[in-house]
Amino acid sequence: MAMFDDIPDQLRTSLPAVEKQTFPVNLLERWEQPGIWWQERVEHKIDPYQKYSTTRVSNFIEGAHRDGTPFQGHNFASQDYLSLASHPDLIKAAIAAIETYGLHSAGSAALMGNTALSVALEERLATFLGYDDVVVFPIGWAAGYGAVKTLVKPQDHVVIDILAHACLQESAHDATENVHVHSHMNARAIESRLARIRREDETCGILVVTETLFSMDSDFPNIAAIQEICHRFNATLLVDCAHDLGALGATGRGKLEDFDMIGKVDILVGAFSKSFASMGGFVATNSKGFRFGLRGQCGPSTFTNAMSPVQAATVLAALDLVESPEGKERRDRLMHNALRLRAGLEAAGFEVLGKPSAIVPMLIGDILLARLMTRYAVEFGGIVNLVEHPAVARNACRWRLQVMADHTDAQIDALVEIAEKSREMAEMHVEWLSANDNRGLEPAALPAAAEAKVAAAAE
Ligand SMILES: Cc1ncc(COP(=O)(O)O)c(C=O)c1O
Repeated sequence: MAMFDDIPDQLRTSLPAVEKQTFPVNLLERWEQPGIWWQERVEHKIDPYQKYSTTRVSNFIEGAHRDGTPFQGHNFASQDYLSLASHPDLIKAAIAAIETYGLHSAGSAALMGNTALSVALEERLATFLGYDDVVVFPIGWAAGYGAVKTLVKPQDHVVIDILAHACLQESAHDATENVHVHSHMNARAIESRLARIRREDETCGILVVTETLFSMDSDFPNIAAIQEICHRFNATLLVDCAHDLGALGATGRGKLEDFDMIGKVDILVGAFSKSFASMGGFVATNSKGFRFGLRGQCGPSTFTNAMSPVQAATVLAALDLVESPEGKERRDRLMHNALRLRAGLEAAGFEVLGKPSAIVPMLIGDILLARLMTRYAVEFGGIVNLVEHPAVARNACRWRLQVMADHTDAQIDALVEIAEKSREMAEMHVEWLSANDNRGLEPAALPAAAEAKVAAAAE
């Protein structure tokens, strides 16, 4: 018989902030309490992180939680927007690359780590994106971090959207103390901040940082307007297009197409890990000099081994697909699926944030409810990712559902049903906890209605 179980008070809060703890003095001892907290979350089945797959990434997946508890279900938790991770053409290209070039780049791109494949990829991307030069990186995180850190020096300023990705935020703070974080997608805030910086200092460099599609809210700023503002104040614009390149736009060039901005943003960075079935990232620029800076004076490129031949071959094959009629057809299916999921969730009374894209952020709000809903969803066969504070604002917890081209209508409808059932179960669980005042609870049998839901889910 299924049971409701106690969730201790300390597991109903956000992550323990290790960096704010000053004691114990020993750096490793500081992690003991957070480690216990995480372990307790596993024991209470409310740690949905660090799950792993035991099958290929696809629309249906088998996997396990951190403690080895297995699960299987409709996969809305992987970043494989065009469903290319198991595409036969890409697998063939990867195998051919291994046979020709071996497994490893065996060196930095500054030395001899590039292969003919990674050089071909840079040239191909430059044409695809409309830039003179592209530099590829072994991971997308390194591309974003490296671009900002290489450009910005301590006397310079960075003006950055509050929801810009961690690689951009961390790099900005590592590069300079002059970081101005503005409210989300607020072009007027950018303009007034640039005016103020320029009034006080005509000689500093200014980097404005934003994204074409924000992954927490699935929304997109007007890049043309922001680029125009930047030019007016002699500031440089850097845009991250990790989540829409390949997946959106008539030709797969993402939101930049809609703003007629292909090749027109000062610096474009991106990742291959969402729509190109591989790790890796890139920086595109029209500055010949900056290209050399990225290769030879950029930590995450100069002092790390270059992208492997397998990565380069996979992304090249993915680009072939993205640019083909099949790529268009996959983007169409992806958008159909995103719209169907958004409509289904809204009809079921959920608040869905942002605009249609491969990311469907479904707001839950309360942290305890969100953790319980996520637990029940996975148990019911809906594999979802929870995003909680501090990654998003307090009481703005959400599922960041990721749609793929290969999801079927039936799977999308099933996920909506699972979301509804999980909400009911989690609400009953929260009610049970508060009715029992959450003190020394013995596990309790589920009410009959909840028991029926569990039984239905198991069928
Ligand atoms: C906007 C954005 N930029 C960069 C990255 C980093 O890319 P990768 O995970 O491929 O290193 C991510 C990853 O999730 C991202 O969302």
